[in-house]
Amino acid sequence: MFVNQSKLPHLLLPEHYSSQSQHEVELETMFRPQWHWVGSLHDAPDDGDFFTRELFGVPILVRNHQGAYHCFLNVCPHRHSTLSNERCGSSPTLKCQYHGWEFNVDGSSGRIPDAKNFRPMSGGPECLKKFSVSVHGPLIFVSLDPSCPPLTDQFKPFATVTEEFSGDRWAHAETWHYDFPANWKVVAENTVESYHLESVHTDSFRFEPEDEIEHEIHDGGTIMRATIHASPNAMRFSRWVTSQLHPDCSPRYRMYHLFPHLFLMRADAMLQAMVLMPTSPITCRATVSVFVLRREQETAWSKWLTRFWGRIKTSAVKKILAEDASLYPGIQMGMEHSPFKGCVSTREELVHALQNHVAEKCGLQAGRDVLPEDCRREMSS
Ligand code: FES
Ligand SMILES: [Fe+2]
Repeated sequence: MFVNQSKLPHLLLPEHYSSQSQHEVELETMFRPQWHWVGSLHDAPDDGDFFTRELFGVPILVRNHQGAYHCFLNVCPHRHSTLSNERCGSSPTLKCQYHGWEFNVDGSSGRIPDAKNFRPMSGGPECLKKFSVSVHGPLIFVSLDPSCPPLTDQFKPFATVTEEFSGDRWAHAETWHYDFPANWKVVAENTVESYHLESVHTDSFRFEPEDEIEHEIHDGGTIMRATIHASPNAMRFSRWVTSQLHPDCSPRYRMYHLFPHLFLMRADAMLQAMVLMPTSPITCRATVSVFVLRREQETAWSKWLTRFWGRIKTSAVKKILAEDASLYPGIQMGMEHSPFKGCVSTREELVHALQNHVAEKCGLQAGRDVLPEDCRREMSS
């Protein structure tokens, strides 16, 4: 059931959830060198469609070019304007909004109005800066770091992720954001532990039987598998909807946490994706999307059912996340005033796995003096 058989030390100190220096180290060592889920296929479904985002203050533009996705720094090499201020849009060519310079898919400049006035053009400085893009299932990922290993390497320990999310048969139900008044680790730790379900999600979400919760711990992330408790009628209805859309879907809940900040949840015909971006030492932004599998041979009825199931699932996810959100200010306040070292149960071992990852990435275990004395003793015993 669980990987560990006895309680675990709380590896991070309360100050690691609010300190400016810890926040900066995490950005540098854990976040900037990562792949980030920045959007989904539905954000730019057709040739020429694009969307813009900001990744740690870096403006980016992702564009669909004949079905392939390309990401550029959203800054023009002419006189530094953003290429577009629109959140999303469509244009037959990749064109700067200021003086109309056009660019090719490789970033090189194409048509330049009054180009003769720029002679001689050296090429190079007139190119857009490109970033790596990787598409997985309905999700589009971008990395700002050219030395970042391929996303598929990161997914490797999670063979089932690849099986479960690849393909383009996902219908987008809804995407929304939360700005939480809490450090991103508060939200991440809450997301991966099921210990709080009974007290916080009393009427909306629990796993049963509890002793069938399964955990897997890998270097790059963790997996939880469990059975969601539901009334016999609700289970029958869910099985029926799933059989109409995709008969092979398992009703079992699977949550894949790819360190540090990506969470992919599957159950029946639904996929929920959530990414957490730190916005300060004590705040973070969560983006959540819900997708539902489309039937292979779509009909008007199956399309309606996919939309209907998307609405049902979205409202269930929103209810659960609102229940969690009500806790975050209190947890953050507690973190900032706690004289305790904390402790972690075997059921919360995925919290420990995340803390271990943070400690390793940030060099906290190398300098073990940052850990309380009894944690150090527990770790070395
Ligand atoms: S700043 Fe982009 S064309 Fe001038
Ligand atoms: Fe929760």
